[in-house]
Amino acid sequence: MTTTQSDILIIGAGVAGLYTALKLAPRPVAVITARPLGTGGATPWAQGGMAAAVGADDTANLHFADTMQAGAGLVDAEAASVLVDGGAFAVEELIALGVKFDQDTDGNLILGREAAHCRDRIVHATGDRAGVAIMDALVKAAQASDHITILERIVAEDLLVDEHGAVGGALVYDVAAGERAAFDAGETVLATGGLGGLYAVTTNPTAAQGHGLAFAARAGALIRDPEFVQFHPTALDFGADPAPLATEALRGEGAHLVNKDGRAFMEDYHPAGDLAPRDIVARAVEAEIKAGRGAFLDARAAVGAAFPTDFPTVFAACRKAEIDPRTALMPVAPAAHYHMGGVYTDLDGAATLDGLWAVGEVASAGVHGANRLASNSLLEAVVFGARIADQLREKQHEARDGAGAPADRMDVASEAADPKAMAKLRKAMSKGCALIRSEETLYEVLETIADLHQQETMTSGLKSALVTAELIAQGALAREESRGAHHRSDFPETEEEAFHTEIAAEMDGDDD
Ligand code: SIN
Repeated sequence: MTTTQSDILIIGAGVAGLYTALKLAPRPVAVITARPLGTGGATPWAQGGMAAAVGADDTANLHFADTMQAGAGLVDAEAASVLVDGGAFAVEELIALGVKFDQDTDGNLILGREAAHCRDRIVHATGDRAGVAIMDALVKAAQASDHITILERIVAEDLLVDEHGAVGGALVYDVAAGERAAFDAGETVLATGGLGGLYAVTTNPTAAQGHGLAFAARAGALIRDPEFVQFHPTALDFGADPAPLATEALRGEGAHLVNKDGRAFMEDYHPAGDLAPRDIVARAVEAEIKAGRGAFLDARAAVGAAFPTDFPTVFAACRKAEIDPRTALMPVAPAAHYHMGGVYTDLDGAATLDGLWAVGEVASAGVHGANRLASNSLLEAVVFGARIADQLREKQHEARDGAGAPADRMDVASEAADPKAMAKLRKAMSKGCALIRSEETLYEVLETIADLHQQETMTSGLKSALVTAELIAQGALAREESRGAHHRSDFPETEEEAFHTEIAAEMDGDDD
């Protein structure tokens, strides 16, 4: 086993990881990524853009109120303030890094509307290609930065923990060398993204299986609210895996959800109609589908001929399925989209273990609560990435006793999960732990997870996926109420007092 070393290690090279790395300058930092830089992760898939109160009629206070309201009682007010106050600066920073947000002919930012925002406040780039534009800029900036070392095709498998419980790097698998190695670090930042790939229908890359969350849980870090998984109401229902997204910005432009009779149904479910909070729209779409009426997005009048220029990503996905959204309806269905729970962090991104930090979707910094406000996630990655960097830039890093010793529990092959086992897990999660859950369906999921732990072909990838799936199911079982994205058919009411689910236990899935 070889050992590599860096003062600071960032696991993950999406917007959260790369932006944190850039802000650490001049402090040297290593960023590891399982795929070639810029090709993995969910950031390039972000269509909607980034929310920021930069419009003439907007204020950070209004953005704060929308964020609190969407989160259904579980948003941390201080964290939300930090987030929304950072909006204008985040936009400036990304522009300075080369992101070309869409502007009108006078050079003003064009601001879009998405669900549950009271103002137009989403900045876009090339229509629905904000994620690509931001990633391109960050990748170029990172490649040009001397303080950043990017290590590609290095797969994190677990965290290294010293005898005092502090995190001191990661156990990694070097794909090119075909060997496992210890990566020692004084400070370790998890920027590993989300977990939609645990579900059969998702808008995320299928490799997004929540491994980072499993690493933190196994190390003993506090995990908060893992049951809150956001389902996007309008994934394009073409049978593709992953399911292409039809961005909420389409409804912001006036597109309507209709059933197969052409009836716009959202007014039946919520006074805000097509722009109701995302969890409500997702459950309405599911209800229409289950009732046999089907659900479609009608953007013919709202977008029509402007599709190829204003929504090139959605247009291309539709054309691939031989549907022309300028003249035809788009079939849609809910899909796992974003994880709102995660590794608990304070306002500076510090997890509960010394030496461990988390940023972006893997983190629970307190800004999303039970239901994330649309397009707040890119903003979160930028604002909290900068705060972690502020902490780490000046910090003298402690040597961590024994941190270089690899975790002995990773006694299985360094491979992604076996596709058959993953298919079984994904099916079980989509059946029992999706938009609507109950004690009965959650126990079925836990049974499948227990069966899969007995697999002969256990790999590090499957082991981590199972830990994270179990965290979600256990969190969902423990929350005997319905709130935001978490809906229990056996507990449909919302408790008067909002509470967090907190899990801090060694969960390596083994019986020993
Ligand atoms: C979308 O474009 O609808 C997704 C935006 C988001 O998830 O924040």
